Amino acid sequence: MQPLIPLIKKKKKLVVGLMSGTSADSIDAVLVDISGAGISTRFRQRAFASFPYPKGFREFVLHNSLPGSGSVETISTLNILLAQFFADAVKAVAKKAHLSLSKIDLIGSHGQTVHHLPSPQRLFGKKVRSTLQLGDPSTIAKLTGIVTVGDFRTADMALGGQGAPLVPYFDFVAFRSAAKHRALLNIGGIANITVLPKNCTVHDVRAFDTGPGNMLVDALMKKLYNKEFDRGGGIALRGEILPELITAMFRDPYFAVKPPKSTGRELFGEKFIEKILKNSRGARTRDIIATVTEFTPLSVYQQYMRFLHKKFSIDELIVSGGGAHNAFMMEALKRYFAPAHVMTSGALGISSDAKEAICFALLANETIAGNPSNIPAVTGASHPAVLGKICLP
Ligand SMILES: Nc1ncnc2c1ncn2[C@@H]1O[C@H](COP(=O)(O)OP(=O)(O)O)[C@@H](O)[C@H]1O
Ligand SMILES: [Mg+2]
Repeated sequence: MQPLIPLIKKKKKLVVGLMSGTSADSIDAVLVDISGAGISTRFRQRAFASFPYPKGFREFVLHNSLPGSGSVETISTLNILLAQFFADAVKAVAKKAHLSLSKIDLIGSHGQTVHHLPSPQRLFGKKVRSTLQLGDPSTIAKLTGIVTVGDFRTADMALGGQGAPLVPYFDFVAFRSAAKHRALLNIGGIANITVLPKNCTVHDVRAFDTGPGNMLVDALMKKLYNKEFDRGGGIALRGEILPELITAMFRDPYFAVKPPKSTGRELFGEKFIEKILKNSRGARTRDIIATVTEFTPLSVYQQYMRFLHKKFSIDELIVSGGGAHNAFMMEALKRYFAPAHVMTSGALGISSDAKEAICFALLANETIAGNPSNIPAVTGASHPAVLGKICLP
């Protein structure tokens, strides 16, 4: 337990946060100074970098995340391969900050989600909720020589929760305000919203996945344009909305489900895309892209109106994730949420690309401090839980 006892006693830590979301586009690695723990934690970003995966890797991960096309051999291999990529990202971000690895106290790694099944599946007389994040934290610890916390989601699921979203605790620590009703919106592969009422305690926080983020746009950009994504929303900006397609997409039962709820590629992946293509046969490709791009801000707004707005209306919407770079999405959010002020988290000093990676650095710090970091009102878990697995170097 040698590395752990002194680590627990340390008031100030240098922590690396690693994030690779459902987009499987790249590894986001951030180096942060963290002081203290709990809701008064303070942190400062020292360095951030995004490391794109090798060419073809994204398709490889997505292919192997699908039921029926992934094999156990590949999943097993990917678990270690990803850990090697994560360890490289730690080394690279340390180098960028001109720091030797021995100065880093802790790593918090989200892992790469390949499957997320938050609704109970019946198997051999048991009800099982499961989620699988690859990138073995023990391997990361061994390859870097740094204590690593990973696999944050299963503890919450064991207590009947969705295991997601976990960012709301971080949102509360970093963004709560005495003066404003705030909402945070992360647009990754999936979009999720956190609302922080003015003067809230952690029990007042509400959050859930609203539906697709960039996932549909990316998949259709690949199919229709052979591109990874719509840079800046440029193609969407030249297209027109197809109203019938919007109506068809809203037919998905996910939008009627009351929170707590979370989702992933299982709902908004391959099958959903096939339906979109069927429903838009004959349409111009740029109109299809415009319509699925519009669907993200529109479904965020619809879900906000349906499940959150009754209690209060927000003064500020703070956007992060890759979708913050999509001008079409940002414009639409401004239109829908007016008169609320729509901005990126960067405007408040937290880079919109680094935010989720910072979150996992902070969650690892909470785990080492023995603090719970799920929010039961958000995930549906029966009680607060200390999250993650602690792996020694
Ligand atoms: N410059 C950009 N213009 C438009 N979209 C972008 C841009 N940069 C990133 N994105 C979108 O953001 C996605 C990645 O977002 P990210 O927050 O990393 O999601 P995840 O957490 O799912 O990995 C990309 O797949 C792409 O769709
Ligand atoms: Mg990403």
